[in-house]
Amino acid sequence: MIQALRGMKDLLSPQSEKYIYFIENCSKIAKKYGYEYIETPILEETALFKRSVGESSDIVGKEMYQFTDKGGNDVCMRPEGTAGVVRAFIQQKYDRAGVQKKFFYYGPMFRYERPQKGRLREFHQFGVESFNQADIREDATIILMLRDMLDFFGIGYKLELNSLGCSDCMPAYREKLVNFLQNEDNICEDCKRRRETNPIRVLDCKNKSCQDIYKKAPLLIDNLCSTCRDEMSTLKKILDSFDVAYTINPKLVRGLDYYNKTAFEFVSDGIGAQNAIAGGGRYDKLVEYLDGKPTSGIGFAMGIERLMDLIVMPKKHREGYYIGALCDEAQERCFKLSIKMRKTEKVSINYDKKSLKAHLKNADKQNARYCICIGEDELSKDSVWIKDLENKKEKSISYSEFLGK
Ligand code: HAM
Repeated sequence: MIQALRGMKDLLSPQSEKYIYFIENCSKIAKKYGYEYIETPILEETALFKRSVGESSDIVGKEMYQFTDKGGNDVCMRPEGTAGVVRAFIQQKYDRAGVQKKFFYYGPMFRYERPQKGRLREFHQFGVESFNQADIREDATIILMLRDMLDFFGIGYKLELNSLGCSDCMPAYREKLVNFLQNEDNICEDCKRRRETNPIRVLDCKNKSCQDIYKKAPLLIDNLCSTCRDEMSTLKKILDSFDVAYTINPKLVRGLDYYNKTAFEFVSDGIGAQNAIAGGGRYDKLVEYLDGKPTSGIGFAMGIERLMDLIVMPKKHREGYYIGALCDEAQERCFKLSIKMRKTEKVSINYDKKSLKAHLKNADKQNARYCICIGEDELSKDSVWIKDLENKKEKSISYSEFLGK
């Protein structure tokens, strides 16, 4: 028997209903904040991710679904959404027009990771990207929007915040860190590799012995330039004024190379080791890296699978009609009635002849508000029998009167 690939899942009811509920309500909130929907291809040139997410990242280094297509192109299934949106932004020449643009998107992402609870190889994100809004109030707004979304679903969270500095303060800090790391021979192999490729990534190494060593490492937050420091302090003040609790995590560096300045992660208790439910930050150089004109950018993405178990669906009310035939001769009439009614109503139908009791049971299972049955009696009187399953009232009504209502 062929099964879904490891780390990939089918989405069926009731989880599929939750997924739609989540997407619809996040989309509504994003629209209130001025975001418009964008859909970019799942397959992109591999170079897009190498130049944005970065060759030193685990995502590009180890986890890409990469292959050569029949035309000989080096392509890969997107491991994340930001790079494709930035590519589309440049392709539409929005960078040259210097316009402010805000996009939201959702859909599948692919990373060849070791599957475990909360970590899949195909997973789904809801994300937003805002271009050309360098003001620190935009950073605050993005975080407040994400809070609105999580609050809507009643999801508790902790916010971790850091600043990754800018091209003024980052190079000097990097040098300090490299100097510190130079004499450390007891760090893990991954950290030794990162020391050469992207030193700040060593700071979020999961290895306890490495972390013991990094307790004495210089931290970027203590080495920010005055602009980055002032922006961070303004951001903190705004978040305080809107009652958003946060902790500063100076070792939060994010697993993608394109970030600068504000970086953040929302984590949640009670979903296991993979507790990051959303992550994001600023990427003011990314449009340039991808050959666009200098344009600031900021965004985030939520991992929908990690949020699924935390979402409580509102109580479902009975809805629509169920139609069932009580005799063979009534099947045709039931079928025609269902097609007519579906122009305006939600209708489910059982084509098979069944007893009244069986149809009522089916209607109940389907959570229908009304059960309609047609049998010999109804055919001879040209009527339908209908029961309201909410207030338990039943009646017979003429077929034409029912259709005309
Ligand atoms: P990310 O932190 O790599 O950021 O992913 C965002 C979220 O996707 C994570 O917080 C997590 O909830 C979920 N996620 C990541 N990997 C997996 C996985 N293997 N299985 C299940 N869920 C996963 C980004 O992707 C950036 N593009 C976010 C961003 C947008 N930054 C700026 N704009």
